[in-house]
Amino acid sequence: MILVAGGSGFIGRAVVRRLRVDGAEVAVMTAHPDRSRRRIEALGATVRVGDVQDEGSLPAAVRGAAVVVQTLTFPTFPVEKRSKGYTFEAFDHIGTGRLARAAADAGVGRYVFVSGSGAAPDAPTVWHRAKWFGEEELRATGLSHVVIRPSWIYGPEDRALNRFVTFHRWLPFVPVVGDGRQRLQPVFIDDVAEAVALAVEPHGPTGTFEIGGPDVVTMDQVLRTMMEVRGKVKPLLHIAPILPKAAGAVLQLLPKPPLSPPAVDFLTGDALAESGPLLEAFGPTLTPLREGLATYLH
Ligand SMILES: NC(=O)c1ccc[n+]([C@@H]2O[C@H](COP(=O)([O-])OP(=O)(O)OC[C@H]3O[C@@H](n4cnc5c(N)ncnc54)[C@H](OP(=O)(O)O)[C@@H]3O)[C@@H](O)[C@H]2O)c1
Repeated sequence: MILVAGGSGFIGRAVVRRLRVDGAEVAVMTAHPDRSRRRIEALGATVRVGDVQDEGSLPAAVRGAAVVVQTLTFPTFPVEKRSKGYTFEAFDHIGTGRLARAAADAGVGRYVFVSGSGAAPDAPTVWHRAKWFGEEELRATGLSHVVIRPSWIYGPEDRALNRFVTFHRWLPFVPVVGDGRQRLQPVFIDDVAEAVALAVEPHGPTGTFEIGGPDVVTMDQVLRTMMEVRGKVKPLLHIAPILPKAAGAVLQLLPKPPLSPPAVDFLTGDALAESGPLLEAFGPTLTPLREGLATYLH
């Protein structure tokens, strides 16, 4: 059985669907079974309850799994909510350590961790540092593992590019925070799911691999391509980050905060990846941006 921790989320759902195509027996670990059960069962997977904030819940969650895939984050991502323990440090670093140790103790044969491109111990941003230290926790267990570090992922169910699609649908312009020059390597969700499916193979390569799409583009170019695929190019309206940051300073106090000043930085940073080693090790194909968008935006 393959346990996908976070299999009810954006990346996790795509991974479960892909694994089910191969006929794999898949269970999904969820911390919110009331909310996610129906969604998980609709994917043809069974439900395992487990919460990385509650270490005691993890041994039962991983029991009997041959492989664990971890693709989870806190519910208010990328906006931290400290009062609930929803922080990058708590989930990406400490939570990864807890789940990886539970998997090692349970005799799991292989562990695939969906981290993030740019993970580094001295990275300027907390999310990149927390991912790195989570990777280190996994490496320290001695488990056979693959770390996959995606850049910016897009697809029919993403919450990033689809926000701009909604703006494009309803507004005469598309607002963009910042100068639109941040460099991205958007990677299609199906390609990430394929890479994870290849990485779960028991005797396959191990190690740490970045994955990004074949196009290195600016945010403005991503949005123009999206509009061209949708058949109508509208003007881009660049908004100084200070404005959403000021709004985020207030909105972060809400129970489900939609924005915070650090989240604005998160959303306007570069996201690049060197996919060469992953292509060499696992050989998935990477879909060009226009082609990926055309599969669902026409
Ligand atoms: N999306 C991207 O572009 C991108 C790019 C690079 C890296 N990543 C990384 O990939 C990972 C997944 O991202 P995503 O976009 O798929 O996130 P997502 O859609 O928000 O899904 C998050 C998942 O985490 C689970 N979860 C929430 N709280 C939990 C807890 N306490 N214990 C265990 N599981 C919990 C949720 O399941 P329940 O609600 O059922 O508990 C959900 O399935 C993140 O670490 C993210 O940083 C994402």
